[in-house]
Amino acid sequence: MIPQKLAEGIYEVGAIDWNVRDFHGYSTDLGTTYNAYLIVDEKIALIDTVKKEFTGRLLEKISRIVDPSKIDVVISNHTEMDHSGGLPAIMEVVGREKPVYCSKMGRKNLRRHFPDWLNLQEVADGQELSLGKRTLQFLETRMIHWPDSMFSYLKEDQILFSSDGFGQHYAGPERFDDEIDDAVMWHAKKYFANILWLYAPLIQKLLEKVLAMDLPIKMICPDHGIIWRRDPGKIINAYVQWCKQQPEESALVVYDTMWHSTESMAEAIVAGLWEAGVKAQPMHARNVHRSDIVTAAFDAKALVIGSPTLNNGIFPTLADVLTYLKGLRPKNKLGAAFGSYGWGGEAPKAVHEILSDMDLEMVEEPLRIQFVPDQEALDACRDFGRRIGQIIKKDK
Ligand code: FEO
Repeated sequence: MIPQKLAEGIYEVGAIDWNVRDFHGYSTDLGTTYNAYLIVDEKIALIDTVKKEFTGRLLEKISRIVDPSKIDVVISNHTEMDHSGGLPAIMEVVGREKPVYCSKMGRKNLRRHFPDWLNLQEVADGQELSLGKRTLQFLETRMIHWPDSMFSYLKEDQILFSSDGFGQHYAGPERFDDEIDDAVMWHAKKYFANILWLYAPLIQKLLEKVLAMDLPIKMICPDHGIIWRRDPGKIINAYVQWCKQQPEESALVVYDTMWHSTESMAEAIVAGLWEAGVKAQPMHARNVHRSDIVTAAFDAKALVIGSPTLNNGIFPTLADVLTYLKGLRPKNKLGAAFGSYGWGGEAPKAVHEILSDMDLEMVEEPLRIQFVPDQEALDACRDFGRRIGQIIKKDK
């Protein structure tokens, strides 16, 4: 693979992971990239590295531009090992004594990952580093998405190296926003929903701070996926919007089913939502990956969760989705629970309690149907969906 020239003396030199399909629980159906950036000035700087097993590819790409031992400084914007895993091996080539600049928390965290000999140099928020004709400015961006996260801004070229921020898990034929257009936005939203949703209130404040600085930004270079060079404002505006957590007038019905009874209920509930004029869709939790369910949940005003009762409790796939969703702390959502049962019927009540603990506004008591829903039961499900739809409409 060859380096991607971004501007005079500035290159993307990272690695493409075409085959990764699971990124610690996030479905990366189209792979991902570990972007790293080389700036060739009077001093040569490398921004971030790659996952350990891709270090050879990073070195190969750098070698096509400069001898890696000529690199003067390395910047670590983020400690997570998809960007730092290659750091020790890179520093063996670059030179053990050369500085690795990182945030205060980055220093602490990198020390807990890697050997003592790394020459970690802490930088403060706003601190600058001259590379000669160019200047890097470091911006502390805690919790986008680790405490150590920072952005690096190349002032003269107006390029923001944004670590995980504004990224997407996407490996495709395109490398730039002007090559993929709007198709990238779903991947960016999935990334936000699964990785950053929890921190949306903090990100909102950070964005306000960065926007108030009025930094001119010609290009945003994230550590994953597409580089924003035609319209970096588009992804910034999307983040501003996503941070507000203002759902659409829609509902998501997530369910699992043992003998199709809870499934029949889900479909009748969706029909009721449609009758109320609300966009809705069912998602089978065993057939749709949790990270795609969460992406759909991010947009939905109401989350209607259906679980059969298994062993006196929630069906395992729903327990998985609910645990994952709870960690992301969704806001401004309505909730309801339902499910078919044989005896006991504990699952819908347990789902109701979990959603309630997540601060969803519960708009219905749990709807439970014993065994196979007959026409009367399905009508009750439709009514249940229609009432939820009416509340969504009223809540608008
Ligand atoms: Fe892409 Fe938080 O690492």
